[in-house]
Amino acid sequence: MPIKNRFAEMQAEITAWRRHLHENPELLFDTHETAAFVAQKLKEFGVDEVVTGIGRTGVVGVIRGRRNDSGRVIGLRADMDALPIEEATGLPHASKVPGKMHACGHDGHTAMLLGAAKYLAETRNFDGTAVVIFQPAEEGGGGGKEMVDDGLMERFGIDEVYGMHNMPGFPVGQFAIRPGPFFASADEFEIKVEGKGGHAAMPHTTVDTTLAASHIVVALQSIVSRNLDPLKQLVVSVTSFRTDTGAHNVIPQKAILRGTVRTLDPEVRDMAEKRLKEVCERTAEAFGAVARVAYTRGYPVMANAEEQTEFAAAVAEKVTGACGPAPQIMGGEDFAFMLEARPGAYILVGNGDTAMVHHPKYDFNDEAIPAGCSWWAEVVESRMPVS
Ligand code: NI
Repeated sequence: MPIKNRFAEMQAEITAWRRHLHENPELLFDTHETAAFVAQKLKEFGVDEVVTGIGRTGVVGVIRGRRNDSGRVIGLRADMDALPIEEATGLPHASKVPGKMHACGHDGHTAMLLGAAKYLAETRNFDGTAVVIFQPAEEGGGGGKEMVDDGLMERFGIDEVYGMHNMPGFPVGQFAIRPGPFFASADEFEIKVEGKGGHAAMPHTTVDTTLAASHIVVALQSIVSRNLDPLKQLVVSVTSFRTDTGAHNVIPQKAILRGTVRTLDPEVRDMAEKRLKEVCERTAEAFGAVARVAYTRGYPVMANAEEQTEFAAAVAEKVTGACGPAPQIMGGEDFAFMLEARPGAYILVGNGDTAMVHHPKYDFNDEAIPAGCSWWAEVVESRMPVS
């Protein structure tokens, strides 16, 4: 079945929702207006149950199929939050909120899943239950984890879960997916280095914190180049280097380094954490300084399940005639927590030739709406067919 005619009819309506959300961006868990808008729409559509406040500002809608002989429950997830970026598109529907914008297309994701919910509530042409999940705080807050910790999967009896993200640079409305590790884990570290401050003209009376910290930055590069299997992927980036003095004639007492570690392999993640601590502590020691490492694990590796990925690709082929292989992405994605809790798959949908996500000139492409909505609806109808 190609793109569903119903979504071609609904495109203007869904586009209007999307642009309304775009004009009114909200950050992290602070998605109160967005959640209220979503809950209101779900009620208007006649969705059987609408539950708010899951994972703080998350919203869940339950849509029962015409039959429920299968007893199956499929979760469909969209994210609702925006980014702390000043919009520079100059579009008529640009953000009305200074310093905040939907620069990752979560406005589009939310609107497309609302469109699918409206269609599924109208038609109910499936044997089982569809659960639409709208999560806050994908951009760093771990809203997906909060919803899972809040009992999302058990409470609604979800068996499988699916997600979708737009991708600039791919032809609009074209899908791409891959099985296994897809998005990277995203961890943070902070290294406190302490030497012995003093007069910059008498370095022999000090322990030069700047020098020790500089050697740490260089030595950390050896984790990727010397400790990692060359066939695997790992990023170790030091992104901030600050000392406790700005003076040109003072050797500082303390320095703080910050950065991020990304990988697609849980064993590589363990190795990087262990080596990071060893390299920092021992390099500092070689210079007579002391380093203390705080390592914080963020989003885990997001891995697609084999069977559900094959199914998701087959549905995408039905909708648009093709589904391409997606590259692995070193960015993090907190749908990872839902895929740790249940088998499922995450798919990319092309956003056409637009600015990249997280760029001030990015905008979600409304031409992707019919394909995106059709994929959601077809996932439910094909996975739980009425025989
Ligand atoms: Ni995003």
